[in-house]
Amino acid sequence: MTNFITGLNTSRPTHMPRHVGIIMDGNGRWAAARGLARIAGHKKGSEVFGNIVRHAKAKGIPFLTVYAFSTENWSRPPDEVKGIMSLLESYLRDSHKYRKENIKTIILGDKTPLSPKLRDMIAEVEQGSSQNTGITVNIALNYGGRSEIVHAARKAAQKLLDGELSGVAQIDEDFLAGCMYTAGQPDPDLVIRTGGEKRISNFLLWQSAYTEFVFTDTFWPDFTPACFDAALTDFAGRKRRKGGVMAVDSDASGQLTIDSGQLTVNVSAMRTDLK
Ligand code: FPP
Repeated sequence: MTNFITGLNTSRPTHMPRHVGIIMDGNGRWAAARGLARIAGHKKGSEVFGNIVRHAKAKGIPFLTVYAFSTENWSRPPDEVKGIMSLLESYLRDSHKYRKENIKTIILGDKTPLSPKLRDMIAEVEQGSSQNTGITVNIALNYGGRSEIVHAARKAAQKLLDGELSGVAQIDEDFLAGCMYTAGQPDPDLVIRTGGEKRISNFLLWQSAYTEFVFTDTFWPDFTPACFDAALTDFAGRKRRKGGVMAVDSDASGQLTIDSGQLTVNVSAMRTDLK
């Protein structure tokens, strides 16, 4: 949110991201480099996913979104699609472990083409973990950013047709944000893409309007908690102005800095009386 008088952007602290997205790329190349089938890369990748979820939780990151299967991934060889789906099933089957660790799981995407068994498992995991507060893990499955925006637009149009809105003017950015799969969650502050490519690939298009990106050549199966920390360090050094003229930073301890590019003021060192 920008204060129109000061031009400061005060929407969120930028030292530690509240929401991190990850495009887990490079599983196939990791496997090929070892003479293994592509699915071996996805299997190792799903283990790495578990490690990173726990690590992000330990770091106090409230939201983590991973890109597990895009709307375009159906065009992969049937065996690979089947293999990824079965890895997701085993994650859901084991999810009682995550539930006990206070991890909330949400599946983002169009669930309609998924098997009834997978849909039932998803419903159970989502309901069972809905009260957990340690970290929210969004798994983007049959997800595409454009199709999410279409889905949101249709939801808004339906509400208008049903008379739930007084007119089109009620359809604004906040309203549409509430129609996305991520309704109620903060936008990602940071998206990490592994595997060397430098593109967004239809991931969280709406939500990443002001997101910082970290690209790494590391293949996802080789991605470690130390790699995650390196991305956080890179992020912490970024100045996020979001269209304003000065960057406002605050960290978890309440240290607040305002940086105009020429002058940095540590506001926490100054005394302020609110009247
Ligand atoms: C991209 O690498 C990876 C995927 C499309 C699948 C990611 C899936 C998993 C890590 C397993 C399931 C996840 C969970 C959440 C349990 P790629 O195959 O495109 O790699 P390449 O570019 O080297 O071919």
